[in-house]
Amino acid sequence: MRVLSGIQPTGRPHWGNFFGAIRQYIDLQEENEGFYFIADLHALTTVRDAKQLRENTLDAALDLLALGLNPDKATLFAQSRVPEVSEITWLLMTGTPMGLLERCHAYKEKKARGLSADAGLFTYPVLMAADILAYDSQIVPVGEDQVQHIEVCRDLAGTFNHTFGETFVLPKAKTLDHGAKVPGTDGQKMSKSYDNTLPLFGDVKKIRKQIMRITTDSRPMEEPKEPEDDHLFQLYRLFASPADVESMAAMYRRGGFGYGEVKKAVAEASEAYFAEARARRDDLQANLDYVHQTLNKGADRAREVASQVLHRAQLACGLR
Ligand code: ADP
Ligand code: TRP
Repeated sequence: MRVLSGIQPTGRPHWGNFFGAIRQYIDLQEENEGFYFIADLHALTTVRDAKQLRENTLDAALDLLALGLNPDKATLFAQSRVPEVSEITWLLMTGTPMGLLERCHAYKEKKARGLSADAGLFTYPVLMAADILAYDSQIVPVGEDQVQHIEVCRDLAGTFNHTFGETFVLPKAKTLDHGAKVPGTDGQKMSKSYDNTLPLFGDVKKIRKQIMRITTDSRPMEEPKEPEDDHLFQLYRLFASPADVESMAAMYRRGGFGYGEVKKAVAEASEAYFAEARARRDDLQANLDYVHQTLNKGADRAREVASQVLHRAQLACGLR
């Protein structure tokens, strides 16, 4: 199957992003033909600083490679390096009802908050549809928040096919199993909007301090506690072996422990878990030529596919 997903380079990835999304994208590369891109054109709707965008895009590539994306198995590239996508966007836009975009959540929410939106944000789902259709993608792994956009994509592709004949492959969303939403340092869902994130990469000492500041309740130490209800325990479970998780759960139920101990265990387990990725990221950082070459090769491969699809679409609608 051809699998495609995009990640916006808008901030440093956190534990929620990894366990909720990135890890699954990377696992899918084993059994499928993966296309993974850094959505820099989408990021341009919010990042309005050239140096920042350039840095974020390179950082996102380093993150994905460090976390295990294998460029021999999957195609990794920056969205803007495939201009065919922008051309397909226009072809789709000519058949996109305004009402459909008015219902899309990013625009709708901004408008509801009384903020002014630009045409880039308004037409964002059409660009996303082109991203998907340009590579004849069959499966698109995304978080719940993006499912609406895959529906829009199917809608636009269906309309085009109906009008001009079979051209685009209709993709399916694969929602990631969010069974456990990763909690942030305050116990709410971890999110950069809540300022409660723990980053994947960065200064270990600083991250350790953030872990030590995770909020806890004020019940007495002796009191037995239900582990499943505690966000610190939920974080520990992400990293520890089943046997360690079991003994931590037993400790909660017995009572007579301090949260400081648990925080230390979370810090140690998370450091061990990400140690390899961290080392790999440092190596990549010292070898940026390799990263640029990988992105160039990825863009060439992506363009090869996208230009065939664009040609097919142009023929269908009478542009050739
Ligand atoms: P943020 O909420 O920090 O802005 P994004 O919306 O950019 O994060 O998230 C990108 C993807 O990471 C989402 O589609 C979702 O799948 C995943 N994700 C983000 N936060 C969490 C979380 N706390 N738990 C599980 N998955 C998450
Ligand atoms: N809009 C997605 C997000 O904010 C990123 C994205 C852009 C994407 N194009 C895509 C995801 C195509 C999947 C497929 O997370």
